Amino acid sequence: MEQRLNEILREALEKINQNDHTLKSLEEIRLAYLGKKGVLTEVMAGLRNLTPEEKPVIGQKINVIKATIENTLKDAKTKVEDQELLKLLESEKIDPTLPGLKLPTGSIHPLNQVIEDVEDLFLGLGYEVADGPELEKDLYNFEMMNIGKNHPARAMQDSFFVDEETLLRTHTSPVQARAMLAHKGKPLAIICPGKVYRRDNDDLTHSHQFMQIEGLVIDEHITFGHLKDTLLKMVRHLFGNEREIRLRPSYFPFTEPSVEVDVVWTKADGTKTYIEVLGAGLVHPDVLKMGGYDPDKFQGFAFGIGVERIAILKYHVEDIRNFYTNDIRFLKQFRGK
Ligand code: PHE
Repeated sequence: MEQRLNEILREALEKINQNDHTLKSLEEIRLAYLGKKGVLTEVMAGLRNLTPEEKPVIGQKINVIKATIENTLKDAKTKVEDQELLKLLESEKIDPTLPGLKLPTGSIHPLNQVIEDVEDLFLGLGYEVADGPELEKDLYNFEMMNIGKNHPARAMQDSFFVDEETLLRTHTSPVQARAMLAHKGKPLAIICPGKVYRRDNDDLTHSHQFMQIEGLVIDEHITFGHLKDTLLKMVRHLFGNEREIRLRPSYFPFTEPSVEVDVVWTKADGTKTYIEVLGAGLVHPDVLKMGGYDPDKFQGFAFGIGVERIAILKYHVEDIRNFYTNDIRFLKQFRGK
């Protein structure tokens, strides 16, 4: 009996230690020796016929053999699993020399470039950058800008009303009123960039939504000279130090006197042309009063620039709609300008 057991162990270990095992072939060996119908189970059944002295000795021997086979199988299984993992890793090997995926980098939108450029200048001159809502009260957009309910200037700014009192702001000027109230009669200097809306048929040069930058300065002893100097500084900051401007008398209900500002442009044939870029003027005394300032003590100047116009001139853009359609081929051109 003992000899038979030794034989079984030798045979089993020999089989297990063969190379080229798979998990399946190892499982087959396990079943053949340790399974319900396996060799050892069969031997165990034979214990019945042994003498009471032999039984425990052989029984223990069988247990040792079982444990040995089990452990050897376990080691072999681990080895096979390791090898299979290695094979898998090998087949999924990463080639670190392959070029990586290029992540496209964005760039600042040309309209924002203009805004940042203007902000740079005015922050350097001590202005604050103010902010106001795009959905604005009639009170700020019109009333406090000296445009009463029946003022004809309302017709020039065909508006998107949401209800009787609320509309999408037609210009950034309502921020003037908000800034005045916020500064409570104290001197102020602000600029405010932002989106504005007017009903319009979109084409090469018109858009129902566009951007403006408002400027407002209120202090004692402000004169038209301060305004003119500021406008010239701004235009030269944007278009170069040689640039000249032309002021034309104009009309805005919230400034008096009012001007429209043209930039002098030299055409290819050498002749000069004038391109309007902004409206400006000295703050109307009634607007000062409504904003809480004594017009006998304080004066102010204000201006409103069309951001798209500046960008069109600066970057030679032919269709204003390009600014809003987010075509990457268009936007890419303004990287680092
Ligand atoms: N709000 C005016 C417009 O949209 C521009 C402007 C601003 C004019 C400030 C004078 C002073 O046309």
